Amino acid sequence: MCAGLRNFQSSGDEARCARVEESPTMTEESPTMNKDTMGAPEADTDAATTLRTIITSYIFSQIVRATAQLGITEHLAGGPRSVDALAEAIDADPDALRRFLRSAASLDLVRETGDTFELGPLGAAMEADHGRLKSVAMGIVGPNLTRRAEGFAEVVRAGRRVNTQVDGYEFWEYYDHHEEEAEHYAVTMSHVTAHCAQALVRQYDFSGFKRIADVGGGHGNLLNGVLTEVPDVHGVLYERAEVNRRAKALFTEAGTADRVELIDGNFLQEIPGGCDLYMIKSTLCDWDDENAARIVGNIHRAAEPGATLVVVDSMIADEVTDDEVNPVHAQQVSAIDFAVFATNGGKVRPQSEYRTMIDAAGFDVESITPFFDGFTHWNLLVAKRR
Ligand SMILES: C[S@@+](CC[C@H](N)C(=O)[O-])C[C@H]1O[C@@H](n2cnc3c(N)ncnc32)[C@H](O)[C@@H]1O
Repeated sequence: MCAGLRNFQSSGDEARCARVEESPTMTEESPTMNKDTMGAPEADTDAATTLRTIITSYIFSQIVRATAQLGITEHLAGGPRSVDALAEAIDADPDALRRFLRSAASLDLVRETGDTFELGPLGAAMEADHGRLKSVAMGIVGPNLTRRAEGFAEVVRAGRRVNTQVDGYEFWEYYDHHEEEAEHYAVTMSHVTAHCAQALVRQYDFSGFKRIADVGGGHGNLLNGVLTEVPDVHGVLYERAEVNRRAKALFTEAGTADRVELIDGNFLQEIPGGCDLYMIKSTLCDWDDENAARIVGNIHRAAEPGATLVVVDSMIADEVTDDEVNPVHAQQVSAIDFAVFATNGGKVRPQSEYRTMIDAAGFDVESITPFFDGFTHWNLLVAKRR
């Protein structure tokens, strides 16, 4: 556990810990104050300590996000700097920056060394990651997701999404108007999908297909993984215009751009024809039953009889077959199920619901196979259009 988390769990005697305890919003006493005796703190149980850490963790996430937003780690990558020098480099108020850096030091993002600050181990990890972890911090802790999470209790009461707009926009529409956050969200997805693509091409033989569409394919990591593996195949990346604008770079860099067509569109309305394989990854889980069925129905309308449908998604296993793998998978699945429900009405579905939905849309489901890419557990569903 990082030092910062420990700071919130025990009084500790380190200097930075003392600073945390001075803060009126982070005192050790207030959360466990006994209402009857008004002043005598109760002894913490392990469970209460863990709970308190979870409750305050939104502060940690926001400190990490702001560290990324301010570009602090890149400015410390060359070595320690004084607060004044750093404030000038990132155009910040020196006093506020000093206070912020001490918060970041409590999480080991930076370290205070005399009059200067330098990278801490977590800041160094952020800096060593080609900017991906910064994007994860800015994409996952961005307002489009965090502000929708504020309404979880209302969603539970209502049984459906409530207050569906942030800044006046629905979930995906929001990204059309917040380009930087959209870029960070897409980079976060790309990171996950690049790992998945490497495992999927070992799991499924894509050779023999002529034209493969990736429906809602993000920045194209899955499609590019397939095009890289199978030299003769052509690809269609079907995405919202806002995403496709940024997607070409990956194919150009990989040398696959001459075999890919980027088509803008709305998969709730129509999907382009002319492909013998349609893939859709991590996307049906974003939508409620009606819209998920509509997307699969639109793939059916676009595809010729005999065309293949490949769905890669998180699914709940119908049967628990592997004691080692399934508890981890189940934990990942539960964590995202409620989040996708509250943000866009989505659902992490059992394998049986996928079978029923895809069969009803006019496909014969041939197999559903779980696989693990080293980080994430997935299910691969293969079906043929009737
Ligand atoms: C969770 S992301 C998955 C991206 C990609 N398949 C992956 O696994 O990395 C869902 C994708 O669906 C796209 N999307 C959302 N609504 C869409 C629509 N109406 N038409 C086309 N694409 C859409 C989003 O832009 C986003 O890239």
